[in-house]
Amino acid sequence: MATILVTGSSDGIGRQTASTLAADGHRVVLHARNAARAEQAQAAVPQAVAVVRGDLTSLAETRQLAEQAAAAGPYDVVIHNAGVGGGQREPVRTADGLERIFQVNVLAPYVLTALVPWPARLVYLTSGLEADGVPRLDDPQWEHRAWDGMQAYSDSKLYDVMLAFAVARRRPQVLSNAVDPGWIRTRMGGPGATDELPAGAETQLWLATSDEPAATVTGRYLKRRRELRANPAAYREDLQERLLAVCAELSGVTLPA
Ligand SMILES: NC(=O)c1ccc[n+]([C@@H]2O[C@H](COP(=O)([O-])OP(=O)(O)OC[C@H]3O[C@@H](n4cnc5c(N)ncnc54)[C@H](OP(=O)(O)O)[C@@H]3O)[C@@H](O)[C@H]2O)c1
Repeated sequence: MATILVTGSSDGIGRQTASTLAADGHRVVLHARNAARAEQAQAAVPQAVAVVRGDLTSLAETRQLAEQAAAAGPYDVVIHNAGVGGGQREPVRTADGLERIFQVNVLAPYVLTALVPWPARLVYLTSGLEADGVPRLDDPQWEHRAWDGMQAYSDSKLYDVMLAFAVARRRPQVLSNAVDPGWIRTRMGGPGATDELPAGAETQLWLATSDEPAATVTGRYLKRRRELRANPAAYREDLQERLLAVCAELSGVTLPA
C-alpha cells in the first residue's frame, strides 16, 4: 500500500486515477481548487484519506496547498495531473500577474515539487502536443509576441516534460517521469476524444505502483506504458536549467538540491 497525492483529482483523469488507486487499497490524498470542489472530490472518492485545497492560479494558495499536502504525507508518489487547456483567444493573467496556462501547468507543479518533501516517485502529466512546444524561455509569459493559446498549452506541456527530466537528473534517487495520457474524453479532451478515462489513467497507475523493471525507470516520457522520444528540447540540460531558473524567479521558490 502506497500513499499517493494526485493533483487535480476533482475531475477527469485525476479523479479516475485517484479513484482506481483508492479502490486498490492505496492511501490517496485528493486535491481540489476550493471547498466546494473538495466536497465533490471526496464524495466521488470516499475512500480517500484527505483532500487538500488550493487554486493553482494563485502562488499564495499553491504554497498553502504544499503545506497542507506535506502535513497529509509523506508520499510514496505524487502525480502532477492538474492542468488547463489552451482554447482562450486572449491570454488570461492571474492575480499574480502571470499567464494562467503557464502558472497552472508549469509553475504550480514546480512549486509543489519544491515544497512537498520528496516522494519516491513523481509523475508529471504532459500531452502529445509537447512535440509542438517551443521553449520560449525568453518570453514564458507571452509579453512580447502575439498570443496563441494552443501554442501556450503545447509549450506548457513541453515544460512539464523538461521538469520531469530535470528532477530525474538532479535527484537520481527519485523516479521522475512524464506521461502523455492520450486523447481522453474529459472536460478538457472534449466529446470527440478517442479514448475513455481508464486508458488515460493506466500508465500513471502503473508507474505509481508497479515494481516491474519497466515501471521503475526515471527521466522517461511514456504513453500507454511505452517509452516515446520526447521533443528534442526536453533533453537539453541548458534549457532544463533555464526553466528551473525562470520558475524560481517567478515563484521565489528554489528547487532543493
Ligand atoms: N484529456 C485529454 O485528452 C488530455 C490529453 C493530453 C494531456 N492531458 C493532461 O491530463 C491532465 C488532466 O486533464 P483532464 O483531461 O483530466 O482535464 P479536466 O477534466 O479538465 O480536469 C482537470 C483537473 O485539474 C484541475 N484544475 C484545473 N485548474 C486548476 C486550478 N487553477 N486549481 C486547482 N485545480 C485545477 C481541475 O479542477 P476543477 O474540476 O475544479 O476545474 C480538474 O480536477 C492535464 O494535465 C492535461 O493537460 C489531457
